[in-house]
Amino acid sequence: MTELSEFLLQLPKAELHLHLEGTLEPDLKFALARRNGISLAQTTVEQVRETYRFNDLTSFLSVYYPAMDVLRTAPDFADLAYHYLRRAHLQGVRYVEMFFDPQAHTARGVSFDDIIRGYRSGILRAGREFGIDAELILCFLRDLGADYAMATLSAALPYKKWIIGVGLDSDERGNPPNKFAEVFARARTEGFLLTMHCDVDQQDSLEHIRQVIEDIGVDRIDHGTNIIESPELVTAAKQRGLALTCCPVSNSFVTGEPKIAELLHLHAAGLTMTVNSDDPAYFGAYAGDNYIRLAESGQVDRDTLINLARNSFHAAWLTPGRRERYLAELDDHVATNS
Ligand code: HPA
Ligand code: ZN
Repeated sequence: MTELSEFLLQLPKAELHLHLEGTLEPDLKFALARRNGISLAQTTVEQVRETYRFNDLTSFLSVYYPAMDVLRTAPDFADLAYHYLRRAHLQGVRYVEMFFDPQAHTARGVSFDDIIRGYRSGILRAGREFGIDAELILCFLRDLGADYAMATLSAALPYKKWIIGVGLDSDERGNPPNKFAEVFARARTEGFLLTMHCDVDQQDSLEHIRQVIEDIGVDRIDHGTNIIESPELVTAAKQRGLALTCCPVSNSFVTGEPKIAELLHLHAAGLTMTVNSDDPAYFGAYAGDNYIRLAESGQVDRDTLINLARNSFHAAWLTPGRRERYLAELDDHVATNS
């Protein structure tokens, strides 16, 4: 590994675009299947990887959802969160805001209580063992409609203290942000912070970005790279202090390109750009690996990579005191390695 790669792996960073269900590595999948008495069509890691044939969002999601069937009980969810946080910790991640998709499980008969108690206990265990901190963002599956999203929000209210915000993910075709305006307005009233996916190069990407900024009033945008096509929206996002959570390796799977030039252009234009992994078990790259991918492209210099890591703490939903503590740690890492 190069000196720069090693530096980037250890660089303190926050991860703000991470789907817990997207961290299910084949070995854990086998262990959970065994524990739950489920027989799988694939029995080796290679066979599982063989199924990872996706070249757009829809084909990715059609592999992603069936794999979750092995997650059944609270200890399964605890193990998933714990294993992810252990790996993230090894790549310099100090703090994570993690998406979880309750409807991908409640739709199969798993209780909301088991899902969130499991995740919460995995987070606490990892915190005790590695000192890593994490919060949960509840994501609604946009292809399951607004009524189910509203019912899921209601189910989440008793667990409010464990959920920092709500998001919107899954298949974007025909599922614009405004379809969920009422759900997000209620979530805001209940005290949740708001974010939404505007996946890259989707049908109506720019209109979806306009809606999340002007109509929904989100606090952050997930992906959102197509904002580059509208200087007016770039200005609007800047004025509102909205950060974008970009995922270069994920983009290279879903759109065929890591969108590095776009990331740099928007960074230079003054938007708070961040680097994240999205679904690391499927795209083969955790947070630090995404920074390395940028470095290896030859397009992104060391100072910019450090600034992107700084941005991750600025864009995080942290109290000022905690943000300052993380930034001081980052500054220490830079000072001792320069
Ligand atoms: N976009 C939409 N839905 C998702 C994603 C994503 O990047 N990852 C997991 N579910
Ligand atoms: Zn995502």
